[in-house]
Amino acid sequence: MQSILNSQYFNEYFTNGFIDTGVSLSDGLLEEMKSHYKNVAEVRNDYPQYFTKNEHQAYLEGKVTGFLFSLFPGMASRMVSKLYGKSYNKAIHLEQAFIEKVCSQLLQQNFQRFFNTRFMVASYDIYLGNDHNHRSFIDIHSDVPNFHHFYETENDITIYVPLIDVNEDNGGRLAILPESKCKLKIPGNVLLKQFEDSFLADPDCLDENGYIDSDKIDPGALKNFINSEPYKALMDNYKISTNFVRDYYADEFIKNDWKAGQIVLFNNKTFHAAETWRNPEYNREIYMIRLLPIYDTKIQLKKTLHGSRFNKYLIDTQTGSIQLYQHGVDLSQIPQQEKLKLRA
Ligand SMILES: [Fe+2]
Repeated sequence: MQSILNSQYFNEYFTNGFIDTGVSLSDGLLEEMKSHYKNVAEVRNDYPQYFTKNEHQAYLEGKVTGFLFSLFPGMASRMVSKLYGKSYNKAIHLEQAFIEKVCSQLLQQNFQRFFNTRFMVASYDIYLGNDHNHRSFIDIHSDVPNFHHFYETENDITIYVPLIDVNEDNGGRLAILPESKCKLKIPGNVLLKQFEDSFLADPDCLDENGYIDSDKIDPGALKNFINSEPYKALMDNYKISTNFVRDYYADEFIKNDWKAGQIVLFNNKTFHAAETWRNPEYNREIYMIRLLPIYDTKIQLKKTLHGSRFNKYLIDTQTGSIQLYQHGVDLSQIPQQEKLKLRA
């Protein structure tokens, strides 16, 4: 994160686990977002589609369950739907109706001052809504990189906006384990290096600019990658680290109160958990945008996720602007000197 954030804000992130941007959504935008998501069907939950062929199932659910899931995919998808159905009333991914508006409000208030790197991709957005009977993601975890997104880094930054007040009375706060308190962090960039090691030498996997195009990877080759020792070791590392944190650091998470509309930054690759929502009067509502820093790796962004286009917005921290690329941000067009180094 030191290469992503300006030092003052890196210190805040390192110590607290989050950065308070000091910016809040305008009242108008907050109301617009709440009413937009209110009109989305109550039962909509986009999480299970990540698990139809999920390569991490064995690690998330335990190896035995994962093995059973691979034998009985129908049962697996019912169990996963139930699990996520219990967590959220609404989990809405990739609407992207508010990425530009939220980022513009931030940029108007000097959002660029936080960053030490020129470009960030505003990859996708997520809305989560749950009442007090739905548990949300209260278990300690780090968001494990997955093949649906394909390009994720250990330094991704999430714009996190509660659309309601989260505090001691309401619950629903985000609990984060700051790097200052625990040196365990999933080395997510290892996955990018493993992708390069496995696919960069195969011309069939590359686009016309010599970048790995995930859509060109043969399903058999991807399966071999998933079963390879280096990838398994990374997943073992994930599981071991998560267990260490659950066993030895559970008391050291920091929870902060936020008012509706306050904009916070955090890294979803650090360990975090949601607090139970306690207010029976109304629902917890959270909106997030995932920002990706750009490395000099020869991996192209995916263009679609579950049928929707994503990776369409590029933030330029030098000009303080956000630009929409209807066909997706093309990483090969970004000058090499403006990219972060994946390898020293
Ligand atoms: Fe998470």
